[in-house]
Amino acid sequence: MPKEPLIRSEDQQDTYREERLVWSLRPRTLAEYIGQLAVAESLSVAITAARKRGEPLEHILLHSPPGLGKTTLAHIIATEMQTKITHTSGPALEKPVDIVGILSNLETGEILFIDEIHRLSHTVEEYLYSAMEDFEVSFIYGKGAFAKTLPYQLKRFTLIGATTRAGLLTPPLRDRFGMTYHLDYYSSEELVQVVNRSASILGVRIEEEAGALEIAMRSRGTPRVANRLLRRVRDYAEVKREGKITQEIADEALTREGVDKNGLDRLDSLYLRTIIDNYRGGPVGIEALAATLNEETTTLIDVVEPFLLKMGFIIRTPAGRKIGDAARAHLTSEQQRLL
Ligand code: ADE
Repeated sequence: MPKEPLIRSEDQQDTYREERLVWSLRPRTLAEYIGQLAVAESLSVAITAARKRGEPLEHILLHSPPGLGKTTLAHIIATEMQTKITHTSGPALEKPVDIVGILSNLETGEILFIDEIHRLSHTVEEYLYSAMEDFEVSFIYGKGAFAKTLPYQLKRFTLIGATTRAGLLTPPLRDRFGMTYHLDYYSSEELVQVVNRSASILGVRIEEEAGALEIAMRSRGTPRVANRLLRRVRDYAEVKREGKITQEIADEALTREGVDKNGLDRLDSLYLRTIIDNYRGGPVGIEALAATLNEETTTLIDVVEPFLLKMGFIIRTPAGRKIGDAARAHLTSEQQRLL
């Protein structure tokens, strides 16, 4: 039977119309950007210094779980540097010719953004080494014994790489980034600000404290989720109520959406239940868990587990995943809440 993912990626859940809404909510400058204070401050210094010297920025690596704003930050960096950004991704660059074509079209100071950079093929990655370090690539002419390589000088560009799995980058690639930043989960207070900012852009009426806080607390520390939940609650408030988002309406709408008080969705809860019910609380290997859940291992590792680990709901041991005490307490309290 073909594998059908239960739900997921946040991006896949957005319809095309919503994708445009998502873009309209993105902050465009560092001044508009909420949270990640240390990263934003360090970037601001680097950008100001580079602009003062009239030089391109050094290459930047951004890593974090999905939805925390790597792409948003890359676009903000381009805006702040007043330069163009070209957007691609690791899996889209299959052959060296793909990357050479893009690189040779970059002008001085322009930004190349490679999302999911940990998924680059080896050959493409090897091309990047000299491009990043010496701003040079070699064109290969001809085939076999008659093949010739011709060095080609590139303009000094800035590579911004984004990854959910910094550990999968090879050391030679990792070492070629001048700046590396980790984006962490947002606090509820920061997410309240994100929700209120988005509500104001969308023209949605919301109780700025209790209403926004209810959404923030159920957003798994992730602005992308906060904005998606805000849109769902807005729909509910418009259709079922008078339109204004209160704490009570947010709670009702999100409970109907299957988002629990801590922001866990159906897959998160099923993941925890499976460890408890099928594996007696663990430890269980990730492959076995993925097979039982009929999900991709990478979805579990990249999307589901980081937040559960952060909440202490699961523990990773050399023997596999184990359920945390906090998870049992949380699932019991959710069961009682929904009675
Ligand atoms: N929307 C999504 N992420 C945001 C952020 N970090 N700051 C402001 N608005 C956002």
